[in-house]
Amino acid sequence: MVTMRDISTLPNLLAEIKTAEQLAALEIEYLGRNGHINALARTLQKLSPEERKEKGAQLNALKQDVLELFERKKDEIQNEQQSHLTDFDTSLPGIKQKSGHLHPTSLVVREIYEYFTYLGYSVYEGPEIETEEYNFAKLNLPPDHPARELQDTLYILEPEYLLRTHTSSVEIRCLTQEKLPVKIITPGKCYRNENTNASNNAIFYQLEGLFIDKGVHMGHLKATLDGFARFLYGENTITRFRCKYYPQVEPGMGMDIQCQLCQGVGCAVCKYRGWLEVVGAGMVHPNMLSACGIDGEEWSGFAFGFGLDRLVMMRYGITDIRSLYNGELVWK
Ligand code: DAH
Repeated sequence: MVTMRDISTLPNLLAEIKTAEQLAALEIEYLGRNGHINALARTLQKLSPEERKEKGAQLNALKQDVLELFERKKDEIQNEQQSHLTDFDTSLPGIKQKSGHLHPTSLVVREIYEYFTYLGYSVYEGPEIETEEYNFAKLNLPPDHPARELQDTLYILEPEYLLRTHTSSVEIRCLTQEKLPVKIITPGKCYRNENTNASNNAIFYQLEGLFIDKGVHMGHLKATLDGFARFLYGENTITRFRCKYYPQVEPGMGMDIQCQLCQGVGCAVCKYRGWLEVVGAGMVHPNMLSACGIDGEEWSGFAFGFGLDRLVMMRYGITDIRSLYNGELVWK
């Protein structure tokens, strides 16, 4: 049974207490339902009425003392905490918070803008939902053209409305709406019914370019593309040009960049070829010019379409295209 003597040790116990949690636990021990004070109160029941009256009064006084001791200790702890707050040295350097940054694709697009705007290009945009006329027909790809097969198109309303399979459709929008000469680049999302794997995705980015003026020739195109590769990957970047077929251009070509990840030795990203084809290009086909009401005798020009994701992957050593589209936090 608890006696008055147990209560007398309370001041010493309180002196040991450092935190509000410890104090709360001790308070329950003394003032809780099964605490020492109530235990003493229960012993009074066995006494005679006179004795109970006398001891009861003593117990009440004791309880008041105990309550006061706890109140005092609570104030002490609170004051202590507040003094710590004002002790805080505001001149100390803060803890650096990690913040995100732009997506790798946005970073590369901004670099690309730098190069092309320096050469006098403007940024031009077009819709992702296109008509087959702008996506195919006016690009010298009539309905029965076999090259339409190469692009597994996602139709919204067949045969008229589709998700653009390339940004070349924006070339047509530009040529039918703007006055010549034009010099544009257009980055944007494209869609194809692809089986997704490390190097193909149903949603991907292209960066289109178009330059139509008088006297534009293949030499301008090669210098533009080669200069671009060296701007993005460094002065010693090795490129090569190959003849390619694209209906919208004649002659057509492609530029390969020596794989930046393996330096041409061969790796999974370049499929052990040592080279990555990054852009399709060529001199704009006269049929495409006349489809846009432009006289091909007077005007000429070139166009190119970069696979933007490949440029980004090579720039940052990213080996799976899907990680550019699934919110990958590693690229934070
Ligand atoms: N549109 C082509 C494709 O998606 C790429 C391309 C090739 C774009 C030649 C061009 C070009 O502007 O001139 O496969």
